[in-house]
Amino acid sequence: MSARRGLALASLLLLLLLLLAACKRSGGGGAAAGLRFERAGGKVVTLSTAEMQRITPARDITVFDPNYKRDKRYRAHLLAPLVARGLGLDDKALRAARFLFIASDGYKVALAGVDIVALEAYLAVADLAPGGWKDVPGHNGVKPGPLYVVWRGEKARDMKLFPWPWQLATVRPSPKDLYARTVPLSAPAGSPARAGHKIFLRDCIRCHAINRQGGRLGPELNVPKNVLEYRDEKLLREFIRNPKAYRYGNMPAQTQLSDGDLDSVVAYLRVMVRHKHDSEAAKAKAGAKAKAPR
Ligand code: HEC
Repeated sequence: MSARRGLALASLLLLLLLLLAACKRSGGGGAAAGLRFERAGGKVVTLSTAEMQRITPARDITVFDPNYKRDKRYRAHLLAPLVARGLGLDDKALRAARFLFIASDGYKVALAGVDIVALEAYLAVADLAPGGWKDVPGHNGVKPGPLYVVWRGEKARDMKLFPWPWQLATVRPSPKDLYARTVPLSAPAGSPARAGHKIFLRDCIRCHAINRQGGRLGPELNVPKNVLEYRDEKLLREFIRNPKAYRYGNMPAQTQLSDGDLDSVVAYLRVMVRHKHDSEAAKAKAGAKAKAPR
């Protein structure tokens, strides 16, 4: 084979390789190519930019972005219809479920379907400022795109309460066993405690843990001591409804709860006194035992 033919063959091979790489990029579910949805049954659906545009056309929105601490303009798709399509859920199922949002760097955060709908979460696909995506302040060289979750609802401006995950790559249903230790096992189906558990998962768990499972913004409510072991029930009910009547803090008033709902939540918390699971205490004990012989 002549040197020239060899060279031609080599360039052809190189071209093929480049083409292959390009195909892989656009179809392989990389962050830039689309958003990956992992359904409960194991099926994976990737929505491309064009598919997102067909499901819910992008519009130009202005949001107060707490990452930049100012108004920002984004081209963005409404997030709820994308999650519904990607995971194959109807509106009711979407509102009832929680989802894990996973960024390309592995950062994971759970968001509730009700919040995504009610607080108008959007998936930003472009920063409309000249020059496009800007570094996130305090995170040198990190740009939030190509897919960035932003919120229009005012309540979501507080990043302590609502995460604004950037470089979103994957969405999947939040596993049920994530909160397995919060289940009031001894309470029969249909009992107030079971109803209270449902309310707790809907309204409280993103901020409060039970048996160390749940959010960390508010205090753990079951271990080492259940909140009803040191607080009077009447006070507790008033506090949950209107925390700021007691102290200025980060717990929002739970005015959505009816008296019956409050009864259920209290019944739930009371049952959990009998179902304590404290992984930290168990660890500490094991540690102490291991040291004991010395
Ligand atoms: C957005 C986050 C958030 C949500 C949602 C939330 N809480 Fe809280 N909660 C907090 C924070 C923060 C505190 C601590 C506030 C303080 O000390 O003023 C707190 C305090 C409490 C306390 C007082 C504990 C104590 O001993 O002082 C109780 C009880 C409580 N929350 C119950 C609930 C229940 C029940 C729900 C759901 C119906 C709920 N919270 C929803 C954030 C939240």
